[in-house]
Amino acid sequence: MEIFKTKKTLLDYIERQKEMGKKIGFAPTMGALHQGHLSLYAEARKENDLVISSIFVNPTQFNNAADLEKYPRTIENDIKALEQSGFVDAVYIPEVNDIYPDGLKSKSYDFDGLENEMEGKFRPGHFDGVGTVVEELFQQVKPDNAYFGDKDYQQLAIIKKLAEKHNSSIKIHGVPIYRESSGLAMSSRNQRLDSTQREAAKVIYETLVKANEWFRVITVPEINQRVKDIFENQRGMTLEYFLIADEATLKETDFFYKDRNYRAFIVVNVGDVRLIDNMHLD
Ligand code: PAF
Repeated sequence: MEIFKTKKTLLDYIERQKEMGKKIGFAPTMGALHQGHLSLYAEARKENDLVISSIFVNPTQFNNAADLEKYPRTIENDIKALEQSGFVDAVYIPEVNDIYPDGLKSKSYDFDGLENEMEGKFRPGHFDGVGTVVEELFQQVKPDNAYFGDKDYQQLAIIKKLAEKHNSSIKIHGVPIYRESSGLAMSSRNQRLDSTQREAAKVIYETLVKANEWFRVITVPEINQRVKDIFENQRGMTLEYFLIADEATLKETDFFYKDRNYRAFIVVNVGDVRLIDNMHLD
């Protein structure tokens, strides 16, 4: 596996690959790699000649300095995991300067309102940071296909919108959430949970499963109330939000319309670890 630590060496490599007509699949990450990331590479492997990943903890998408500081950084293990996976041809590990030559600031985007829902309300500036880094990485890596987890469903929708608005030829793929055997969605942040918290956190997935059972059986306000009640009784855990939204607009709904698709979204703080999950309702 090739490892590129500067923009220049990456660009030379990409140019050579493009000249040879190679189809590039790309999965950007912030490191602390887990099985969920490997499932992105496995998917990319199926439909590309080359699979490239990047590892870059992007400062501009953190609205909270402590969260950025505590974000797990496990670069040596990450490189081993990439090598062992056998899925990845090259990894790009840029310096801040390679992504932000003019200083650490985000561009400002209009994602047709998708950026104002859910995480947009709770993490101001987050999606401008994500848009900025992803746009820059796309320009450097020049992929044909790019892969993102369904776990960050709003991020995935926003990146699709970014590609659409830039008339980009890059095809954006969502990859199903990879779960631990308890149902807990795989996340780099899970590394910060102790064993009791990890065990307790499975209630997040269990709640989504229940919400799906209640879907179209009771009303949305009733579902919302039941979810609140579940978390009232959870020690060391606070529900930041639970809501059901239209999958296309990501707008919260309090009524189910026929012929629309819905998804439940949840954010829970377990101790000081912020966990996010979602589930399509059928
Ligand atoms: O999902 C992530 O890990 C990050 O938000 C991404 C897409 C790599 C941008 O920094």
